[in-house]
Amino acid sequence: MTKPRIFVTRIIPEKGLEMVRQKADVEVWQDPLPPPYETLVQKVKGMDALLCLLTDRIDGNLMDAIGPQVKVISQMAVGFDNIDIPAATSRGIPVGNTPGVLTDTTADFAWALLMAAARRVVEGDKFTRAGKWKTWGPVDFLGPDISGATLGIIGFGRIGQGLARRAQGFDMRILYFDTRRKPEAEQKYHAQYVDLNTLLREADFVSIHTTLSQDTHHLMNDARLKMMKRSGVLINTARGPVVDPQALCRALSSGTIAYAALDVTEPEPIRPDDPLLKLDNIIIAPHIASASFQTRNKMATMAAENLIAGLKGERLPNCVNPQVYSIKP
Ligand code: DGY
Repeated sequence: MTKPRIFVTRIIPEKGLEMVRQKADVEVWQDPLPPPYETLVQKVKGMDALLCLLTDRIDGNLMDAIGPQVKVISQMAVGFDNIDIPAATSRGIPVGNTPGVLTDTTADFAWALLMAAARRVVEGDKFTRAGKWKTWGPVDFLGPDISGATLGIIGFGRIGQGLARRAQGFDMRILYFDTRRKPEAEQKYHAQYVDLNTLLREADFVSIHTTLSQDTHHLMNDARLKMMKRSGVLINTARGPVVDPQALCRALSSGTIAYAALDVTEPEPIRPDDPLLKLDNIIIAPHIASASFQTRNKMATMAAENLIAGLKGERLPNCVNPQVYSIKP
């Protein structure tokens, strides 16, 4: 019996690859950089399934290029804003993602960015390496205390709540904003629901954990950055375009806010000549919040499980468009 054909858009942790290799003929894109869109369109033709990453644009045109035999698109990420979900649903293609397994790892990293920004860890390291450390300076590298400060969390889903959990040990006052209240989580994490403007005005640290959508695109613009405290620190581990990068650059350069720490940028990767890279009061990591050995392994196996279920015609264990099972394409 001929095996189904799968295209995997990058080398992923071996555990996940091995799982799909047992069920299918697998072609893996070997380059460390993602396949260019037009190349991907050619590569996927005739495949029975696609295992993709957040760096791949998966639109209706690409789905048509794969062909009507395609049974599943499985993304190795929790976010899926790179995939045109309505286009997949209307073509009857289930799309899988990897929620849950990266919650703690991502929340850890958001917390690491918060602490590194407040305590100026990266600046201090650069200073030391540049041979500028001459003495203990009583007023050097001052930053705000974390203990007892107010943390504002935008998007109180799994990862936002994970950050609130970490903040418990630091006696922080926790404010959150979401499209809907989460009474149980409020109680559990002693968090107070407020509107976005109140959160921005009162928080010492603002951390973004919302998905990217038309509503959240450039949510943090000039006006909203101006609402933050001048001593405020902005953290983004969600999606780059939730923050307007030019507005952020203006806010950091003019002292409208004190500091930012990003794991995600717009665009990704950030261009080498981006003015944000010239500022000292920002930390920019290359989208690595979920990058622990354990979590990336789990993400790869979960993506493989979704893919294998899709190939068998079974319901995906984690499907982002379950409507696909109730409509006929
Ligand atoms: C995701 O999964 O969406 C993260 O951004 C990468 O781990």
